Amino acid sequence: MATTNLNADAYHLTRDTAESSRLEAQHEVWKTNVGHLIHPRIAETLPQRDVLVGDVGTGTGAWLLDVARQPNAQNWNFHGLDLSAAQFPPIPSSNIRFSTLNILDPVPADLEGKFDVLHLRLLVMGLPTGTWVTAATNLRKLLKPGGWLQWEEARFGDLVTLQTDLSHFALRTSSEALYHSIRAAVVSRGVALDEIASLESFVGSGGFEDVRLDLLGSDRVLETRKGFSLAVAGAFRGMIKMLASADPEASTWREGGAAWQQLDSIENAMRREELYYSADIMVVTGRRVS
Ligand SMILES: C[S@@+](CC[C@H](N)C(=O)[O-])C[C@H]1O[C@@H](n2cnc3c(N)ncnc32)[C@H](O)[C@@H]1O
Repeated sequence: MATTNLNADAYHLTRDTAESSRLEAQHEVWKTNVGHLIHPRIAETLPQRDVLVGDVGTGTGAWLLDVARQPNAQNWNFHGLDLSAAQFPPIPSSNIRFSTLNILDPVPADLEGKFDVLHLRLLVMGLPTGTWVTAATNLRKLLKPGGWLQWEEARFGDLVTLQTDLSHFALRTSSEALYHSIRAAVVSRGVALDEIASLESFVGSGGFEDVRLDLLGSDRVLETRKGFSLAVAGAFRGMIKMLASADPEASTWREGGAAWQQLDSIENAMRREELYYSADIMVVTGRRVS
């Protein structure tokens, strides 16, 4: 059943310690593949001080804290925002804060027009189908005129499993089958895998100008293939857990059920580098002009 209540916590992954470790590992492989934390077209416009950088859907704050450690950012301020405080890290310094915000709710007056840069990454499991333009519109309201948006997602609706050798054919077809059954189950619950490839146009519809899409392969840097694949497999484990709790009658999703066993063997094959996942990484940037 599609989720229509925009105010609910529609997030389809867990927020436990294993998920926090997965997000931290994923940050490293993602950053290596994308090749930057802040897009160079944004970074070159930022002064040395009086810059407020926000990260919406910050999770563990991995991206935000990494930016805050960069030498040029020592005099900037940082604000991590998320629907839930469950994964917020300890605060390392006085120029960094975290607070809760649902980006689908009306923008609080005290945050309107405050940010110079807003970053988002991997919100796909939290923003239901039909809500992405609302999110983009609210993000624009949070920015100062002249402020920048940088939103990173992958085209997970078109994820493929690739084999590293002809002998891994059966493993690959099993992985593709599992992906398609998880995909169908989560899409029927409102996850926007069918829409995600339109991120650039959602950002434009939210009122951003000078919108640009950079498209990079998740295996652009070969050494990250395994890490990316295991991070995605970890997300699938989280989705299977959520599907099991949403539908306790469906034996396939239950712990130890068919989907778990299939995922175990796919993860093991990924550790042995027999298989890997591949998806296009999208980096969408745009500006609030007025
Ligand atoms: C997969 S995690 C990604 C975390 C982080 N951006 C990263 O790349 O490491 C998605 C995060 O988005 C948050 N989220 C989901 N829906 C949200 C919403 N409507 N408003 C704000 N945060 C949301 C979740 O709580 C979760 O922490």
